[in-house]
Amino acid sequence: MNTNYQFTLKNETTQTDYELSTLCGTVGPDVLDMQTLYQRTGMFAYDPGFTSTASCKSKITYIDGDAGILMYRGYPIEELAEHCTFLEVCHLLLTGELPDQTQLHKFTDDIIHHTLLHDQLTNFFKGFRRDAHPMAIMVGVVGALSAFYHDALDIRSKEDRDMCAIRIIAKIPTIVAMSYKYSIGLPFMYPRNDLSYVENFMRMMLGNPCEEYRPNPVLVRALDRILILHADHEQNASTSTVRLAGSSGANPYACVTSGIVCLWGPAHGGANEAVLNMLLEIGSVDNIDRYIKKAKDKSDPFRLMGFGHRVYKNFDPRAKLIRDTCYEVLDALNLHDDPLFKLALELERIALEDPYFVEKKLYPNVDFYSGIVLKALGIPSNMFTAMFAMGRSVGWIAHWDEMISDPNQKIGRPRQLYIGEPQRAVKPLASRG
Ligand code: SDX
Repeated sequence: MNTNYQFTLKNETTQTDYELSTLCGTVGPDVLDMQTLYQRTGMFAYDPGFTSTASCKSKITYIDGDAGILMYRGYPIEELAEHCTFLEVCHLLLTGELPDQTQLHKFTDDIIHHTLLHDQLTNFFKGFRRDAHPMAIMVGVVGALSAFYHDALDIRSKEDRDMCAIRIIAKIPTIVAMSYKYSIGLPFMYPRNDLSYVENFMRMMLGNPCEEYRPNPVLVRALDRILILHADHEQNASTSTVRLAGSSGANPYACVTSGIVCLWGPAHGGANEAVLNMLLEIGSVDNIDRYIKKAKDKSDPFRLMGFGHRVYKNFDPRAKLIRDTCYEVLDALNLHDDPLFKLALELERIALEDPYFVEKKLYPNVDFYSGIVLKALGIPSNMFTAMFAMGRSVGWIAHWDEMISDPNQKIGRPRQLYIGEPQRAVKPLASRG
């Protein structure tokens, strides 16, 4: 990393200048190196929501929000979605390179042979009510994985960290499918080693033990692409949560669980479920104007779910790719006239012509169309965020690995601006009030 030029910070009161150096990345905004700010000035940098803060250096993903660019390890998302499978992308995110034939065969074999859960884990499901939200079940069961591998885990060992990554990528689909089966009272389906990663998941999720299940290859490819599009996204809220949890040296399975917890929020990965519920609530094209008005009304908490993004101030490239996938899936299922898709297309058209959305640069994000595709694939809306977690798990574990293997890694510990009470003496109980 080059340190190219200096910034001078001037305290006008004391007439003191502080020289700040900058760091330049491969591409994208340079950063002001603030690591010694407090030590030199006695002041903190204030940035709630981290809107202007680079929390780390990373080689994994690059986003240009103004240009609508997303790259994994330098490869544009559009090319990866067209030419690669999800497991190829997992290998890329974890190692930095796309696999050759031999590497892909070994990686796929490793994943396939770790899809089973320890049979004791099935007992964890039985503690939940059948109507428990699948994300609550995911938090419990993925968190429980940390109890099963805690001992054989030296996070300073690259070999142990690689095994964690394999286990997470391999077992999360099994857990997602089991969460669904449990919620509808159907028996768990065991994974099968003769199926591809996505075929295996679809069979565990949508098949049953009484008959053969072979998913439509168009739908398999569509779901594989959706996982690619959700695999990573730089320092988003859930990935930052995983990094912060991991910075204390916590068990990686528990760290991934912290990512699942954060992703569940409707402002983050919970938005895909919220989009579908919103479209069902809008119900008809005739009601769109009323909901657009609600979204613009500051006194109304309603927001247009699936719109807006902290980084993208242009089209989220993933939204375009998922919209294209929507057409493919609905075509394959003869659902050309799917009312929800038509409603979503019209809502997008009207919103993108509305001055409020144009001025605030609010465009459809990854969650706007994903729910429509997942619903067409037969996946219920309360499973949508679990599907997001299934795709994002590789990004979480890739960032965890990058963080924990950094020789300069230290525990994350932000400070604050204290605005509470000044020091005061405790009054005896009898004299309070
Ligand atoms: C994901 O970070 C990532 O990378 C996340 C993600 C990933 O892959 O990990 O991309 C996945 O989380 C996508 C986002 C999914 N969430 C939603 O679709 C929920 C709806 N969107 C918003 O809640 C909002 O846009 C956020 C949370 C996504 C971004 O919020 P910011 O960056 O904090 O922006 P903001 O809330 O400050 O909004 C700026 C302005 C505000 O108005 P003003 O106060 O300036 O007048 O835009 C308005 C907001 O009120 N606004 C919206 C809006 N989103 C922002 N108004 C109506 N509808 C919306 N959806």
